[in-house]
Amino acid sequence: MSYREYIQQLKDRKEITGIKTSVSETYEAAGILKKCEPKPILFEAIKESGFKIAGNLFCGKQDFARYFGIQPGQIIPFLTSAIEQRSPCEIITDAPCQQVIHPDPDLDLLPILKHCQGDGGNYITAGVVVTRHPNYGQNLDFHRCMQFSKNELSMRIVRSRHFDAFLKDQKQLDIAMCIGNAPNVLAAAATSVEIGVDELEIANAMESLQLVHAKTVDVFIPAEAEFVLEGTVYLDRKHAEGPFVDLTETQDIVRQEPVFVVKTITHRHDAIWQALLPGGLEHKLLMGMPREPTIFKTVNEVVKCLDVHVNPGGCSWLHTIIQIDKQSEEDGKLAIQAAFSSHRSCKHVFVVDKDIDIYNPLEVEWAMATRFQGDRDMVIMDKEQGSSLDPSAEPDTHLTTKIGFDLTKPLHSVGKNFEKHPYPEIDLSQYGLT
Ligand SMILES: Cc1cc2nc3c(=O)[nH]c(=O)nc-3n(C[C@H](O)[C@H](O)[C@H](O)COP(=O)(O)O)c2cc1C
Repeated sequence: MSYREYIQQLKDRKEITGIKTSVSETYEAAGILKKCEPKPILFEAIKESGFKIAGNLFCGKQDFARYFGIQPGQIIPFLTSAIEQRSPCEIITDAPCQQVIHPDPDLDLLPILKHCQGDGGNYITAGVVVTRHPNYGQNLDFHRCMQFSKNELSMRIVRSRHFDAFLKDQKQLDIAMCIGNAPNVLAAAATSVEIGVDELEIANAMESLQLVHAKTVDVFIPAEAEFVLEGTVYLDRKHAEGPFVDLTETQDIVRQEPVFVVKTITHRHDAIWQALLPGGLEHKLLMGMPREPTIFKTVNEVVKCLDVHVNPGGCSWLHTIIQIDKQSEEDGKLAIQAAFSSHRSCKHVFVVDKDIDIYNPLEVEWAMATRFQGDRDMVIMDKEQGSSLDPSAEPDTHLTTKIGFDLTKPLHSVGKNFEKHPYPEIDLSQYGLT
């Protein structure tokens, strides 16, 4: 299903709120998205642009799971199998994303949002970047972009991303930034797999995907995308990027980042822009969820792992909660080490037993309160490489202290036991209660 078919499905189910009042791309649209979370929103009229905008489409795992006809608990095996069984996409020549072609692009015509007071400019946040390296082939990832002229944006490129490696090697890269994508493309773009894997093949394994060759750059792009910005990113041409309220809902700093010069814009006739609210639930879902299969696999190599949640309370990036079936006293700490090795940006890991619901923060805290002793169950790793997103990490180096909390109960308890004791079973109907 395409992005627009999903929006239509939400309309048919009366699950998307259409806003007919004309809304500004500056602050107003972002404010409405935040206020309405997790409700999907369709902005039917934008003051500064002729295009509509949709947002908040996938704010939770249940939305993502329902789209693919699976249960939320099946997402990790689903993503794992898509990564392992990726397959080439069908190539077509006549694609909806190229119905309209602008060889002389003007970004001001697009509804690029300015999200928060203090942001350095209007930002594209849902852009999936497709590029190609002569040795590694195609790569897919997300890079936020701040507009600073009619055809230029500064692109945030976190060091050590595959895109960063490609750019350092090639000095300039032709790219196609695709906006208005279905969740298979979004989730695939957010996975971190070995260099050389074309993540579009992962998307195709989730749901079949047609590609078309871009008009002016040598990459294949999702045929059903709503908008495509084609152009070149230059390593040595830098421009200020930021400030920007990012994933942690705090303001990221200004950096000098590579410039993306847009040379052609293509789009559908009545294209619908995709707004991904920075720091919103949808952004968090797309950051954390595609990391979970990698963490699960690594933890499961050393202990019996049951589930992994990179939870929104930890900005869906800095915290990981792991549920294990504990077999030996060392399992909690082994799981902690494995999790840190597979998700290098993670700062705190919490390991719980199988009786704790990792999607319920009250239960995780209960496990901490009743099963954890700081001197015995904590792993502290000082001055480790952390995330650039963490405001508390050292500003330049991102060094941080990582802590693992083993919240599992001892296999053999001495003294009090660790089980939640059941209350008496009562049939409420006998008391006139339901
Ligand atoms: C919504 C969203 C926005 C992101 N924005 C950026 C960004 O601005 N810069 C960046 O370097 N990575 C960003 N990322 C992270 C990368 O796109 C992502 O981790 C990707 O898996 C890295 O790809 P790679 O494994 O090919 O290096 C973002 C991820 C998501 C889900």
